[in-house]
Amino acid sequence: MATANEIRQTQRAGGTATVLAIGTANPPNCVYQSTYPDFFFRVTNNEHKTELKEKFQRICDKTKIKKRYMHLTEDILKKNPKFCEFRAPTLDAKQEILIVEIPKLGEEAATKAIKEWGQPKSKITHLIFCTSAGVDMPGADYQLTNLLGLSPDVKRYMMYQQGCYAGAMGLRLAKDLTENNKDSRVLLVCAEMRVLGFSGLSDTHLDGLVGQALFGDGAAAVVIGSDPLPNVENSLFELVWTAQTILPDSERYIKGDIREVGMILYLNQDLPNLVSKHIEKALVKAFQPLNISDYNSIFWVSHPGGRAILDKIEAKLGLKPEKLQASRYVLSEYGNMTSASVLFVMDEMRRKSKDEGHNTTGEGLEWGVLLGLGPGITIDTVLLRSVAI
Ligand code: CAA
Repeated sequence: MATANEIRQTQRAGGTATVLAIGTANPPNCVYQSTYPDFFFRVTNNEHKTELKEKFQRICDKTKIKKRYMHLTEDILKKNPKFCEFRAPTLDAKQEILIVEIPKLGEEAATKAIKEWGQPKSKITHLIFCTSAGVDMPGADYQLTNLLGLSPDVKRYMMYQQGCYAGAMGLRLAKDLTENNKDSRVLLVCAEMRVLGFSGLSDTHLDGLVGQALFGDGAAAVVIGSDPLPNVENSLFELVWTAQTILPDSERYIKGDIREVGMILYLNQDLPNLVSKHIEKALVKAFQPLNISDYNSIFWVSHPGGRAILDKIEAKLGLKPEKLQASRYVLSEYGNMTSASVLFVMDEMRRKSKDEGHNTTGEGLEWGVLLGLGPGITIDTVLLRSVAI
């Protein structure tokens, strides 16, 4: 008769959790940052607020975002005129949109990831769904299971309202799941839409300006498993080590209050300084065991929270400009897509490495860091190992 310990041993995988495929999706409506202030002030009937518009224009310019994708088209806004007022009670209507659209956008990204993985979806054993857009019962994890036709036995984890660190957190959870469950294959899906936070502006409450200039809609899906089947499954990155930490005295730096108006977002102006002040501690924990202290010798997959955050991290650590290129590219092409952003950056990293002729998925380097950043302030760190191309 097997002992409990023997049973436990047979349940565990032998190898390190590995990213096997990545897929991404965005709504079709593309919005250019250069014309967004005109659009935004027109649809919110605020064109007379010229000073506020000029300030919004300055912020939009400084984000270094070129374009974003948004589910909320002018047509949808016309049908929901209260969305364009300043903090009008709109939660019900916003929820009605999100509970349908978030699983659908997640499905689009997941379908691409499963196609790249090349295995039947019946082999997905676990589903992790992350979103900060819309809450319901049963949740987006359940809806996505049905949309994709996953097995009803798939083990689901629904992670709501974690904000921008959820992409990294999802990888951490996927690593723990797949390394402790032999032959498991985890589908991680992060889907986000800037619907709850959409609102007209007021010159007496400036908190919303940066949020309206920064966020975009997108979904990313990743398949993760240990012990990839040789010649059947393709490895992209190994998830070697993970950590999460809360920065001291930082609770007020990012806040998202869910109220009748949707989400009221507060972003402290000193956030870029706070993050850069503490970032090295997270890196030391990850890289000291490898004897790495030169952060130009690793590849970077950082959540592109905002241009100023990337600038401050780069300056603090003396990073060469090319190090944060993948993050800056994703920020410029899509805006800040909350939890999905860092997975878009991981996707960009492997594509760019291949296109530029590098011999690993991490720009020719072996070790890399994936950083999530969100409310708390919470930092999630994933130590990545690239694979040969
Ligand atoms: N709130 C309100 N106003 C702000 C602000 C903030 N957090 N940050 C900057 N501003 C205002 C400034 O006061 C300034 O106004 P004036 O032009 O009237 O003087 C204007 O924005 C431009 O600021 P700067 O001239 O100082 O320009 P900058 O180089 O700092 O660029 C920025 C502005 C693009 C917004 C930049 O500060 C930035 O990237 N900030 C970080 C944005 C941020 O908070 N990102 C995190 C998002 S949250 C997240 O990713 C995780 C999550 O879970 C949601």
